[in-house]
Amino acid sequence: MINMASSQLNENIDRGQWTGRIGFILAAAGSAIGLGNIWRFPYSVAEGGGGLFVIIYLFFVLVIGLPVLLAELSLGRASQRNPVGAFKAMIPGKFWPYVGGLGVLTGGGILAFYSVIAGWTLGYLGKSVSGTLSQAVDGESSGQIFSSFVADPTWPVILSGIFLLITFFVVRGGVAKGIERATTLLMPALFVLLLALAVRALTLPNGMEGLIYLFTPDWSKLSLNVVMGALGQALFSLSLGMGAMITYGSYASKKENLWKSGIFIATADTGIALLAGLIIFPTLFFASADPQAGPGLVFVVLPTIFNQMPFGSVVAMAFFSLLGIAALTSTVSLLEVVVSYFVDEKGWSRHTASITIAGACFLLAIPSALAFGASPQLSGGDDSILPFGLDFLSLNNNIWGNYSLSIGAFLICVGVAWFWGIPKFLSALEDGHSQIFPMPGRQIVGLLVKIICPLAVLTVLIFIIATGNYF
Ligand code: PHE
Repeated sequence: MINMASSQLNENIDRGQWTGRIGFILAAAGSAIGLGNIWRFPYSVAEGGGGLFVIIYLFFVLVIGLPVLLAELSLGRASQRNPVGAFKAMIPGKFWPYVGGLGVLTGGGILAFYSVIAGWTLGYLGKSVSGTLSQAVDGESSGQIFSSFVADPTWPVILSGIFLLITFFVVRGGVAKGIERATTLLMPALFVLLLALAVRALTLPNGMEGLIYLFTPDWSKLSLNVVMGALGQALFSLSLGMGAMITYGSYASKKENLWKSGIFIATADTGIALLAGLIIFPTLFFASADPQAGPGLVFVVLPTIFNQMPFGSVVAMAFFSLLGIAALTSTVSLLEVVVSYFVDEKGWSRHTASITIAGACFLLAIPSALAFGASPQLSGGDDSILPFGLDFLSLNNNIWGNYSLSIGAFLICVGVAWFWGIPKFLSALEDGHSQIFPMPGRQIVGLLVKIICPLAVLTVLIFIIATGNYF
């Protein structure tokens, strides 16, 4: 449909490209919207003191998330390359490709634990079909169903394997026929279902208590870990700091208005996270579940609300299918980052790259799948061999999903602002669309990418290192 061949580098012709505007925006929003919004955001809120976390999170989305998103999209589209190639092509010096390399590594690191949670959604889909989930009538019974499910030594491993296999098939299908097609169809459906669930949750008895919890900050909970968690969550949720948006930007044509795309992606992602909060917290107070339930939070809380609804089991099936799909559009982007590196830089075929990397991630996912009771050494309890009292999955979640993304976002800002240069970044951002954004907007984004974002991330990291408050 789009004929951009003349403006592209020759060797990029078979890299693939989005077929149009909607496809690009929905694929990028599909990468952003995923388990990060519906699984990770609510339990990070619970661990980070409710409204306090939400306020810091929103601040980071605006001040760091959106500028980094625009920087990544621009770098990707200007270079038409994977993260390593993008730095190689746009910024001179031996160091910068390693920043892309860190992103590729982080993509694999995140995929290896993310696919385990994604596997849980498949398991819960199975439970809603078989009817087991209708026994989850309150916080306690639902908690038991969850604990015995995740402590099983085989199912979580098998399900994460199945999820990676599906991810492999989509990525192998290519940019337009695989990734774009799947996302365009499914993202709108997810949104409608979430909206309906939010209405139900808010009208439950005690629903308003949940709302108050979500939006009232308890400043006494302020700590470095909460700030780090909110920063990591903002980056994780927007798929930033590791080159996913560089990669997706690299399949975009000059017809795309990257300002608009970036603002749309950030707004949609944040809106869906808040919507998930509006579902989880009222339900949590209603079901008297424990707000500190960690990675199991949504799996424990949501089934209790489904059982309070007419046609609850149908809603449960629809919800877990869509959650699985939202997860899929994110795992696809994680795998795509690594695959695009091996295809562009190492000349591997898309098929070989996708099967090899998905397979490697499956092996790396196994310890995370066993980290909730199946292997006490990995489960963060008394017999655990791991530091900080964390289970293997949570440890990886913190390392890759908070620290690595923050370091990545810092380096991307420094590279784009100080070595590629703000004028080149802004003209890449607006390439094909002259003067489409009012002047103060450009200056503010320039200032944020050049000074505020790197400084803010660095300050958080330095404080954490100096005080030793790692997790
Ligand atoms: N943003 C995705 C989510 O919220 C996770 C993700 C992180 C995907 C980093 C790609 C890169 O679920």
